[in-house]
Amino acid sequence: MQVNGQPQRTIWFDEAQHCVRIIDQTLLPHHFNILSLHTLDSACHAIISMQVRGAPLIGVTAAFGVYLALREGNTDLAGVCERLLKTRPTAVNLRWALDRVQAELLSLEAERRPTAALGLARLMADEDAAACSAIGDHGLPLLELAWVEKRRRNPAAECLNVLTHCNAGWLATVDWGTALAPIYKAHFKGIPVHVWVDETRPRNQGAFLTAWELQQQGIPHTVIVDNAGGHLMQHGEVDLCLVGSDRTTATGDVCNKIGTYLKALAAFDNGVPFYVALPVSTIDFGLSDGVREIPIEQRHASEVSHMQGLDETGQLSRVQVMTSHSAINNFGFDVTPARLVTALITEKGVFAPTRESLKSLL
Ligand code: MRU
Repeated sequence: MQVNGQPQRTIWFDEAQHCVRIIDQTLLPHHFNILSLHTLDSACHAIISMQVRGAPLIGVTAAFGVYLALREGNTDLAGVCERLLKTRPTAVNLRWALDRVQAELLSLEAERRPTAALGLARLMADEDAAACSAIGDHGLPLLELAWVEKRRRNPAAECLNVLTHCNAGWLATVDWGTALAPIYKAHFKGIPVHVWVDETRPRNQGAFLTAWELQQQGIPHTVIVDNAGGHLMQHGEVDLCLVGSDRTTATGDVCNKIGTYLKALAAFDNGVPFYVALPVSTIDFGLSDGVREIPIEQRHASEVSHMQGLDETGQLSRVQVMTSHSAINNFGFDVTPARLVTALITEKGVFAPTRESLKSLL
């Protein structure tokens, strides 16, 4: 997608500097900073600190991390992968990427592995961008239909209102995004889309990242507090919900950013379609009960007690928003049962959230 009118990806290999480049997402939307990764340590730190985040991007970063480790002379491929796997527990794309890298490298002699690892990481980045673009193509007809239907019911309707949670845009992938890909494609096709952006406490991926992405592409959007979605749905202000996923079971249960489940409940109660967009690499075919089986990441309490933003002098600063005397729990994700999901939009097409429907993807 574009930043200040220039094409941009979230991760790439810099031939001239022999390093991996990423956008430091912890500074957005206030500063657009590019970081260089030279070591396995820096790749792990980037994932843990959420300089890179979003299920597909975490997977691709891990693949580049393996390359950096091998280039440093680390020959313990299994140990490297184990370390990367521990960086974040919920998004299954991380494991998917590391399994693929290990399977491809294990058959090679040690001296050929670094070059092969770099080639594979770059291939996975390109494949992720292509998959997300295809998710956009498969989701577009759903948005087109929703817009045609809305205009049929109300010829004076001015826009199609889509609600999204967290950031499942190009910043969460290599390019295009998952949930935002159909929105971008619809916008480029002339459908007047307006996006309700959940701020997504505690890290505010909606207010900080999704809003910034949409603004860069010129897409009308409004940031709302996380608790506003149900109210908007009750008043007919949401035509459909579209979110991403960090792990989806073989039965269609969807794990995504904390708060997604509540949006799905409100959508169900108000007859609003609830779509989930994801690459097939996000489906964990080994799991069938998302609530019981998906590991939910718990992050540091300071993400809840403190907030980052610009102070009155325009400097990025961090403030404490509550006292230090209360206990804090910071679950990163929750699970939306398949029964609340209208359909899953993948790069291979649109699927019902059922084992029967998803098994053709195996
Ligand atoms: O904690 P994050 O920012 O990595 O969480 C990201 C999400 O929950 C996204 O919705 C999900 O990864 C899908 S991204 C294409």
